[in-house]
Amino acid sequence: MTTTFPEGFLWGGATAANQFEGAYDQGGKGLSIQDIMPKGIMAPPSEEPTEDNLKLTGIDFYNRYAEDIALFAEMGFKTFRFSIAWSRIFPNGDDATPNEEGLAFYDRVLDELEKHGIEPLVTISHYETPLHLAREYDGWTDRRLIDFYEHYARVLFERYGQRVKYWLTFNEINAIIHAPLMAGGILTPKEELSKQDLYQAIHHELVASARVTRLAREVAPGAQIGCMILAMPTYPLTPNPEDVLKALQAEQANYAFGDVHCRGYYPGYFLRTLREAGVELEITDQDREDLKNTVDFVSFSYYSSVCESADPSQEAGESNIMGGTKNPTLKASEWGWQIDPVGLRIVLNDYWDRWQKPLFIVENGLGAKDELLEVDGVKTVQDDYRIDYLNQHLTQVGEALADGVDLLGYTTWGCIDLVSASTAQLSKRYGFIYVDRNDYGQGSLERYRKKSFDWYKEVIATNGGSL
Ligand code: BG6
Repeated sequence: MTTTFPEGFLWGGATAANQFEGAYDQGGKGLSIQDIMPKGIMAPPSEEPTEDNLKLTGIDFYNRYAEDIALFAEMGFKTFRFSIAWSRIFPNGDDATPNEEGLAFYDRVLDELEKHGIEPLVTISHYETPLHLAREYDGWTDRRLIDFYEHYARVLFERYGQRVKYWLTFNEINAIIHAPLMAGGILTPKEELSKQDLYQAIHHELVASARVTRLAREVAPGAQIGCMILAMPTYPLTPNPEDVLKALQAEQANYAFGDVHCRGYYPGYFLRTLREAGVELEITDQDREDLKNTVDFVSFSYYSSVCESADPSQEAGESNIMGGTKNPTLKASEWGWQIDPVGLRIVLNDYWDRWQKPLFIVENGLGAKDELLEVDGVKTVQDDYRIDYLNQHLTQVGEALADGVDLLGYTTWGCIDLVSASTAQLSKRYGFIYVDRNDYGQGSLERYRKKSFDWYKEVIATNGGSL
């Protein structure tokens, strides 16, 4: 079929401050939880930043942003997703005044994007809660985080509100259930964290998200605020109705976050989960009012689908932070993430039907090991596997558009190689641009265009026509 993407479709790439900026202690930045997570979610955090933590230097975007943005422009990016490091703006998170040097850095990034006509797409909080908030308050378990976050967002809207139209409140907000430190800044180890505290933290994030949505409408009229969900369609492992129900309940655990963001109140199935877990949420009347500030659009990441089974003996998926059972019909990446392009069409239809809000795919891509080779005197990576992955997924996006889904854009994850969130490796590469740095932190940090660089350039130039 011929894929037709709408005019003005926002093609681009996505990143997060903690995974690529580096400069963890420059420009007045305070520490974030990532600075003590040298192994991602694969091991407990360290006490202090350690040399083996690749994120401390990242890929040095902090100093190389102009060169990198020029490469994105060369590919024809219409949009670029990045996050603002909260601890660059408020080093401790609860400071009274912001750090001007941090604010000025993002002014420079925005200047560069403007120069190339690239629309910024900003994540306010992407797995990088200031460490002080984790240590002093146990992150989002504490209600005071709502005020700190709102204060931080106000500073961002006042400073950049005229220049940034698209904002995301929390990256993969539903991931907190499985990764409470990374997604909720909660230092209490997951095994010791009570359901009461976990769900209270979720409630605080949801209220914070709604409050800054209202704030944006006051301070930055014209801004579009989106929630961001880790999408993982869940299929029943067999047609047994018990498996079907199990799959639905797994979906509901994720839907709840979108439902609250789009409808403004908690759905009944979620309240039942709380009741059965013996959780009594502290929800004030003001919270209920705040939650009514629903989002303008729904953004999500998509990498994989999973299966669910009512049979407890079924093994859980490997390296998959969201749990689930393996799908026997699908192949997987080198990191065990199962590859399911049709699942993306399913998510798009499902979310559009459910929420009737414009959607935005803000992450999708293949983490793979790349080899830098010299071809005709030029160093490059022959990443046909990545082209194939993206091509198949974008073809399904085209199908969903033909199904009538309203989609604002598509940003591939890690458009330039960066440090992995789950495993903290650099060898798990997603980019169109290869960065010379390995898992031991060695390398020149030089950038090289991969084969997929030209492929994506063509996709954008033809607005999807070349797929
Ligand atoms: C998402 C996150 O979970 O997936 C990103 O929003 C992350 O921060 C991406 O990098 C890919 O995951 P990983 O673990 O391969 O880096």
